[in-house]
Amino acid sequence: MYAFKIQGGNRLFGTVEINGAKNAILPIMAGALLTAEPVKLENISYLSDVKVLSQLLSSLGMKIQNETDSLTLRADDIVSTHADYEYVSKMRGSFWVLGPLLGRFHKAEVSLPGGCAIGTRPVDLYLMALREMGAEIKIENGYVCATGPLHGAEIFFPKVSVGATHNTVMAAVLTPGKTVIHNPALEPEVIDLLNMLVKMGADIKGIGTKTLIITGVEKLHGCKHKIIPDRIEAATFAIAGAMTRGRIFMKGARLNLMEAVADVLRVSHVEITQEQEGVLVDATHAKLTATPITTCEYPGFPTDVQSLMTSLLAIAEGDSVVEERIFENRFMHIPELQRMGAHVRNINGNTILITGVPELSGATVMSSDLRGGVGLVLAALVAKGQSIVKRIYHIDRGYYSLESKLSGLGAVIERIHLDD
Ligand code: EPZ
Repeated sequence: MYAFKIQGGNRLFGTVEINGAKNAILPIMAGALLTAEPVKLENISYLSDVKVLSQLLSSLGMKIQNETDSLTLRADDIVSTHADYEYVSKMRGSFWVLGPLLGRFHKAEVSLPGGCAIGTRPVDLYLMALREMGAEIKIENGYVCATGPLHGAEIFFPKVSVGATHNTVMAAVLTPGKTVIHNPALEPEVIDLLNMLVKMGADIKGIGTKTLIITGVEKLHGCKHKIIPDRIEAATFAIAGAMTRGRIFMKGARLNLMEAVADVLRVSHVEITQEQEGVLVDATHAKLTATPITTCEYPGFPTDVQSLMTSLLAIAEGDSVVEERIFENRFMHIPELQRMGAHVRNINGNTILITGVPELSGATVMSSDLRGGVGLVLAALVAKGQSIVKRIYHIDRGYYSLESKLSGLGAVIERIHLDD
């Protein structure tokens, strides 16, 4: 079992490379199932989630070639449409092979992903949409067993779901007729998938609007696609820079993907600007200030940045109310933050009150999920003394070598092996 050992107190200065967005790579890799021709993806980061999805796709017959920071996928010999529990239980994004398998091969047997630390993570919206498109769906032994063929349909999503949008679009692009999707997710990672599908020859209108119109085509061809930068990774380093009152240039980042986060940081007098090749965060004159946060769908404040921002608010002057509107259980890092001296009160299930303190103290803490774990790392960067952040396998799912990037900016952090 590995952990991060962190000595708090250093300000962060320098340049960090922002990798391709984890939450774009995963659906886009599944999208490569829609054609027999090669799909080359650039700006890939070798996250453990990407490795798990690669294993699943290979088990279906997908050929995958790894180059330095790119992947070439070829689904010209898919031998199975069975996505096993072994993979889907490890990484819920694997569930997104359902749409493309059903759309191209008219059948799929995909393990239900199950819940996770942050919530029950139901898939009812995915199945509602596929049923509207004519899929026969049975749930047997923990698997979604779906058969086509599918037909065009008009689909109304009662709530925004990133995954249900990905899955439905990928089911529709090869489906004869017109599929209209009302209330799709607008996250940049969804737009990135849609843009790649159009490059492959898909007929999709209304990209970036609340109504997608997809007209099925006979076949899709291969393409080359560069993954958008990871706005959540960029937000992570922007908040690290703010908390340590440093200055960080985030190479490859795009400010227009993270405006809601930038607006919150500007309340704390952090300067954040788009430069030629990336985003500059200058917090050398920052005054960390209490700010109300309500997470919501894009372009609102992202739920994935909530735990990162609570660590900043824990040392900001004043009281901040943080409301988590997307997931039902996304405050699990709070008890660990309290062990570091944070003053946090739970107002009700999805709302907390944070009263800033002048200083946190280092402690041994436990990650419970990906973004909660990174929130604890950020707190440890400013805490007095040493911290040990355990169960960092959660963090490796979404960050490629976080410790080397942070130490490259001046943080004192190392990956250590714990006996237990
Ligand atoms: C994606 O998860 C991301 N994961 C999440 O990032 C992100 O937090 C989330 O979108 C919201 O932006 C990946 O892209 C791999 P949703 P997803 O479907 O698609 C409910 C991270 O840390 N819902 O938009 O699973 C659901 O329970 C991860 O990188 C239903 O009720 O999220 C949640 O409350 C964490 N029924 C809300 O909708 C459904 O059928 C939003 O979920 C589907 C979802």
